Amino acid sequence: MANYRIAPSILSANFAKLGEEVSAVINSGADFIHFDVMDNHYVPNLTIGPLVCEAIRPVTDAIIDVHLMVEPVDRIVPDFAKAGANIISFHPEATRHIDRTIGLIKEQGCMAGLVFNPATPLNYLDHVLDKLDLVLIMSVNPGFGGQKFIPEALPKLREVRKRIDESGRNILLEIDGGVKVDNIAEIARAGADTFVAGSAIYSAGKDSDPHRYDTIVSALRAELKKV
Ligand code: DX5
Ligand code: ZN
Repeated sequence: MANYRIAPSILSANFAKLGEEVSAVINSGADFIHFDVMDNHYVPNLTIGPLVCEAIRPVTDAIIDVHLMVEPVDRIVPDFAKAGANIISFHPEATRHIDRTIGLIKEQGCMAGLVFNPATPLNYLDHVLDKLDLVLIMSVNPGFGGQKFIPEALPKLREVRKRIDESGRNILLEIDGGVKVDNIAEIARAGADTFVAGSAIYSAGKDSDPHRYDTIVSALRAELKKV
């Protein structure tokens, strides 16, 4: 069976008790903490920055997967590296020099990811795929949690899967936006191996679950077993 990772987006967590919400999803069986950074400039919303990353770092050993929706990108990269980020991903439209930004992320000791909006063409991968650790396909327009999955992401995933397999490199293929129990299997079949889910997970907490999110994380994993 393929190795799949579930990455709850804390954008949909209860921010009044963020530390608990981080531990709860990981103790419920999730793998990465997806950390959405929005600047009210590249995207029309404002969220969390390096201080919050630093605050949650001691709470978990899980990988913190920082998704930068900010412009410009380079200035803030070292701050997130110092704050304990493991993966830093950015949008190609948000930086002047994509190759330089990838280099900067790696120099800071982090894994580097490139993010594709629904209308962003994959040719941004042409000259940098061999330097990337992760490719993130957006299945919603970035800026908000709780939006509907855009099905055009599926052929895009298939195309990136092909390119990654041809490269022979170990590159994660992540999907972000509108991932739920009822579509995660289809998304995995299209080639994704890492699944961001915000509202699907954080809206499904149960007081009766030992770690609050056990039922929903198991339901997502059960769907992935069918692939
Ligand atoms: C959207 C963010 C996503 C978002 C996903 O701009 O990048 O990570 O939180 O939320 P859901 O899973 O609710 O679509
Ligand atoms: Zn995200």
